[in-house]
Amino acid sequence: MTDQLQSLNRRFALAGHLQFKAGPGGLAVADINNEHAAATVVLPGAHVLSFQPRGQRPVLWASAHSRFESGQPIRGGIPLVWPWFGAHPTDPAKPAHGFARTSLWAVSETAVTSGGATRLRLSLADSDETRSLWPHPFQLEFTVTVGVDLQVELAMRNVGQSAFTCGAALHSYFAVSDAGRISIHGLEGGDYLDKVDGGRRKTQAGPVTIAAETDRIYLDTTAACVIDDPGWGRRIRVAKLGSRSTVVWNPWVDKSRRMADFGDEEYPGMVCVETANAADDVVTVAPAGEHRLQAVIGVVG
Ligand code: BG6
Repeated sequence: MTDQLQSLNRRFALAGHLQFKAGPGGLAVADINNEHAAATVVLPGAHVLSFQPRGQRPVLWASAHSRFESGQPIRGGIPLVWPWFGAHPTDPAKPAHGFARTSLWAVSETAVTSGGATRLRLSLADSDETRSLWPHPFQLEFTVTVGVDLQVELAMRNVGQSAFTCGAALHSYFAVSDAGRISIHGLEGGDYLDKVDGGRRKTQAGPVTIAAETDRIYLDTTAACVIDDPGWGRRIRVAKLGSRSTVVWNPWVDKSRRMADFGDEEYPGMVCVETANAADDVVTVAPAGEHRLQAVIGVVG
């Protein structure tokens, strides 16, 4: 075991709940196992890679073709998107979805809650590297609580002298039996920007179903979503706080082929339902202010 893992385990391991290990690609992970569920959090990127309540199938999906290299995004789990969503608004050379998912985070706390869930908190502050991409001083805290449900929360604090505006997403990839046969409830009647149709604004009629490349930003919605998966006889609920956008994404056939870290045949097995603040719903944080973005993910039967 490396010195880093030994020292993390000395300070933060929780017997019967959490230990640090070398995970895929040798990346340091927090391996969480308790009476309710198992989960893996990759420390670089503060990336929840897996979540599996006891007696259930895995809830999150990850590509068999993902890279696992420090500084590179992981394809699957819950990438953390911050401080901009999608392409940078003015500079396409900057990394898509910001830098939180490729930054080196520090462990700041581990704990067992009164209900027997396991909590892990990671933090990230601005540095020369982040300021070269985005000029604002900030502190981020990412808290993962693994119980019957998985709760993830990104707290973004403005520690500078002027307000900043940021986009964000808890970019969750869910495992499904067949993306073409699921339905997503909770977005009915809402407006969305259709990124596969030039960003046109449209209105959702009925539940969302997927039969082609789908890439939509649902605007001004605080509703929980339920992914109804008749093939596996289960429903996954995604409830949220501090989020006014929900993004639904499946790359389908052609886009899957264009992505090196996504297998050509993998798209039926996943759908992204992302707890976000994007497009019209970006958030402005005043000096000394804070915004919290939270998702609670669980299997409801
Ligand atoms: C979604 C975006 O959130 O993420 C899509 O709406 C994008 O446009 C997808 O393709 C994956 O992004 P990335 O940067 O992880 O390949």
